[in-house]
Amino acid sequence: MNAVTGTIQPTQLKHPISDTMYGVFFEDINFAADGGLYAELIRNRSFEFPDALHGWEPDGDFEVRKGEANDVPFPKNPHYVRLTGTRHRDQWTALDNTGFRGLAFERGKRYNASFYARTANNTARQNIVVSLVDESGTVVAKQNVNVNSPAWKEYKATLTPSASADRGKFRLLYDGHSGSVDVEQISLFPADTFNGHANGLRKDLAQTIADLKPGIFRFPGGCIVEGTTLEQRYNWKDSVGPVGNRPLNGNRWNNTFVDHLTPDYFQSYGLGFYEFFVFCEEIGAEPLPVVNVGLACQYQNDERDLSAQVALDKLEPYIQDALDLIEFANGGTDTAWGKLRAEMGHTAPFNMKYIGIGNEQWGKLYTDRLPLFLEKIRAKYPEIQVVGSSGPSPDGNHFTYLWPKMKEFKVDLVDEHYYKDPNWFLNNVNRYDNYDRSGPKVFAGEYASHDNPTNSLYAALSEAAFMTGLEKNADVVRMTSYAPLLANYRAWQWAHDLIWFNNKQVVRTPSYYVQYLYSNNKGTHTLDIASLANKPQGVYLSAVADKTDNSVIVKAINVGTMPVSVKLKIQDAPANAAVKASGIFGNRRDKNTETAPDTIKLETSGLTLTDGNLDVSLKPGSFTVYRVSLK
Ligand code: AHR
Repeated sequence: MNAVTGTIQPTQLKHPISDTMYGVFFEDINFAADGGLYAELIRNRSFEFPDALHGWEPDGDFEVRKGEANDVPFPKNPHYVRLTGTRHRDQWTALDNTGFRGLAFERGKRYNASFYARTANNTARQNIVVSLVDESGTVVAKQNVNVNSPAWKEYKATLTPSASADRGKFRLLYDGHSGSVDVEQISLFPADTFNGHANGLRKDLAQTIADLKPGIFRFPGGCIVEGTTLEQRYNWKDSVGPVGNRPLNGNRWNNTFVDHLTPDYFQSYGLGFYEFFVFCEEIGAEPLPVVNVGLACQYQNDERDLSAQVALDKLEPYIQDALDLIEFANGGTDTAWGKLRAEMGHTAPFNMKYIGIGNEQWGKLYTDRLPLFLEKIRAKYPEIQVVGSSGPSPDGNHFTYLWPKMKEFKVDLVDEHYYKDPNWFLNNVNRYDNYDRSGPKVFAGEYASHDNPTNSLYAALSEAAFMTGLEKNADVVRMTSYAPLLANYRAWQWAHDLIWFNNKQVVRTPSYYVQYLYSNNKGTHTLDIASLANKPQGVYLSAVADKTDNSVIVKAINVGTMPVSVKLKIQDAPANAAVKASGIFGNRRDKNTETAPDTIKLETSGLTLTDGNLDVSLKPGSFTVYRVSLK
């Protein structure tokens, strides 16, 4: 078969590519936050789960108590446990925590334990022993802590285990026999969190996200923004301020899927809006927070159910939440919410530019509410760009109703969602070619190719092919993000997901490498490939220029089963210019798993142009990025 031929003229820049083009979408689904990115190892640390001892294995004389607001360290989390030593001197009272589907720790690494405590029942100082216990029951790290006050105080200890465990335990043991001690907010973090923050993020997961160099970071969801009920919606104000006083919330994903029930799925809000903003800043992503528009999840509630919607004349607090959020992110320290941000450790504004109003909303319920938010946001913060919804699908009634409405409302970006099979992605590469260039821009905010098996190479290749169309239409598509981002192998509800993990391991999917390759080879301007000839079905090509390092970047996908030769003339390039090739390839059904995490892995190699031509053979089942240096 003849080689695919074409010509790229590097100086004929077409559209600038937005810095926000490739981003990530974080939602607390699949144990993405607690038991995932949030590095806290203790489950139910403040005894607020409906079963107050969920996650704990108590032994001895203990009592769960609920304190009055003025008698507990954290009034919004009023439960604590009283440990009493009334038994024989060789009988102990202890609380073991089993973590999130196991509590993993590594030999020689440091772990920071902390808890609030007070002596109770007029007893004098009390000794507590905190320890790490491995699977065999052996204590592999321990430290004594003296509780020396009848007033609540925070106590800390550092534990360095002498052995590792996958399913270990944290133990808090009352080392006394005649007194009582109250304990609350029992916490354990690895000392080595991402960028070393206390209350920080799990380093390996955070780094895997950072490696994507996301231009945009959308959070905190997703359907959890809406909640199954309005009471359960994600209320960002509950997620800021002192960590111990952030009230526990249920998770909208706990009982959604019959085959993946996780009724023990709660949000501690330890990873809250402040932590999200800091993370965005540290990884160079623009924050895109989403707030509730006055609707509980529309999938889970009938539109006639008035309890799932806020009446229009009662919407003011929700609108105020959006305005206050902007103040929290950007306001001066002389504003109420800007002051809180400063007290939490960030005096400078976060310089937030975008806000999403509503998640995946649809219908008149949405279009009645959105303008009320827009009016107030536009009046007070005209510089903030607002993202509106086009519903849950890339076409159909909701979509065709909402897009004209979004234009009428003059939102800045419209969020589109599509979870489809690989054929849909391959057949929709040209989706944006004829979009209206004068209206709002597109945020492809949630998409993933769903294949069998889950997260196959073929699914990823279909996404890579589709993304050539996103890239080509960079004048209208300004932001994109795969969804969902994270999934815990032991506690997931939704597949496919970009990154899978267990308590010790991170597994990058083929789709992860696709996102990585696009984002790390984003370029600054699109380029046409002229005179394209002999291109068989199943081959997808695109080109961009990168003015930051004077290179041309060609992306090439071959979803077919035969190798394909490609010969592209790069006009005026040095005859044997250096080329870096990076990519993935394999069999269509290949996927990465816990036991075979590198079945599909990133391969890189160096080559040169041949007489100014990129002359290469595309392997079957491959996605390759060729970065041609014009220097
Ligand atoms: O990404 C999973 C879910 O898909 C999101 O929460 C929601 O917006 C969509 O339906």
